[in-house]
Amino acid sequence: MNSEPDGVTLSPDLTQPTDTCRPTGPAQLTSPAQPTGPARPTGPVEPTGLAEPPCPVLPTGPAQPTGPARPTGPAEPPCPALPTDPAQPTDPARSVGAGGPARRGLLGGLAALGTAAALAGCQGSRSPAPAAPSPPPRQPGVTDPQPARALLLSYDVSPGVHGPAGRESVRRMFAAWTPLLTARDGPTVTVGLGPALFPRLGAHAPEALRDLPAFAGDRLRPEAGGGQVFLQICAASPAACADLARRLERTAPGVLRPRWQQAGFLPETPRGETPRNLFGFKDGTANPNAKQADRWVWLGPGPHHNATYLVVRRIRLATAEFGELPVERQERVMGRRKAHGGPLQGGPEHAEPDLYAKTSQGGYLLPADAHVRLAHPRFDGGARILRRGYSYDNAPDDQGLLFLAYMNDPDLFARVQRRLAGHDALGPFVEHYGSAVFFVPPGAGPQRPLAEGVL
Ligand code: HEM
Repeated sequence: MNSEPDGVTLSPDLTQPTDTCRPTGPAQLTSPAQPTGPARPTGPVEPTGLAEPPCPVLPTGPAQPTGPARPTGPAEPPCPALPTDPAQPTDPARSVGAGGPARRGLLGGLAALGTAAALAGCQGSRSPAPAAPSPPPRQPGVTDPQPARALLLSYDVSPGVHGPAGRESVRRMFAAWTPLLTARDGPTVTVGLGPALFPRLGAHAPEALRDLPAFAGDRLRPEAGGGQVFLQICAASPAACADLARRLERTAPGVLRPRWQQAGFLPETPRGETPRNLFGFKDGTANPNAKQADRWVWLGPGPHHNATYLVVRRIRLATAEFGELPVERQERVMGRRKAHGGPLQGGPEHAEPDLYAKTSQGGYLLPADAHVRLAHPRFDGGARILRRGYSYDNAPDDQGLLFLAYMNDPDLFARVQRRLAGHDALGPFVEHYGSAVFFVPPGAGPQRPLAEGVL
């Protein structure tokens, strides 16, 4: 077993065929952002707990009933955002497409069974196989605790950097960064590589690295998003973040050209507690634990073992408008209690939201358009993303959330955002104006430059 510095325990690599008795099966920055303001609520934005909105996933015609009394015959699959019965085969938590997470989980289980059987058959017949090579390190700044400050810097490579020679310059830059990336104490630097970098340098992009699709309600400005090389620097102070950014930039003059940058912060939060966002709600409660992160955040054994993907969304929040809602309404928009972050049906912060609980009037206690319901992993076969958000505050009318989410396939984000876009009760209070996606290669080590085998 290999123990990671963040306490995540890795499974042994069973894919290395070192012995005939080993199983061979499938166990295998430029101008600052110009605030335009979130789309302001146009009418009454009060969320309703009784009437169910149209299903965000399934197409609905104007005459189609959407409430709980909606008939679900065999010709019409149930709305994946409305609860059914977990015991039913049609329950969304059970129904994901072929090749989807649940299927992969099943295959994983079968593979594990095959592995166990193969190992049992080999007992006592051979001396122990040589240890598999240790997996590459994971980059910091993903699953480790969040320091109070972050600086996000996105770059493109300079005009003269392209093709094989450009690739060599970028490799040399990463090698020169190694001591700063692997320092044990102080700020963490997480490096991401954008989709446009690979063709520019004549390299093959990792398979899942593609620009994100467009989502309903997006108000994206190209200069506020994207980028070919990305740095997430996290530290205890803004000065420490900025100092490290300068040192990294000085190491490789001329290779990178700034595209956008943004500083972020978290409020002072007692150790072990969940920080609050600028709407005043605890944000990060339902993040995956270490075991779930192994399944949904890090890439497993293969060409990009211990890599991950990062989705960045720059989201302006209409803090004043949201703050004017009575707290009880804010809670129904979000789907959690403001004081302690617990679910609406009661219980402590980490209690699981009850998707089935009804009010005495028959509506869902957790409204059908509540953020937490629509974002819930239950509607995607249990698939999870790791949110590592920071707040930003550029001006009284330009405050918001730096949504940073890590996952082993950017499509996991897209599937959640499709459910939210145009349906989330939070929608009238938020504006997505910047977007980016990056491949986060395995970490650098003393003998291993960053992005080895990738570029
Ligand atoms: C627009 C600004 C957003 C705000 C203010 C916000 C805030 C919150 C809050 C307060 C929670 C409940 C506590 C928690 O579990 O962390 C939450 C949960 C969650 N949010 Fe967001 N969020 C935003 C955007 C997004 C986006 C863009 C996504 C992904 C596409 C997302 C995905 C999730 C997920 C997956 C959960 C956990 C659901 C669960 O398992 O209970 N959020 N968010």
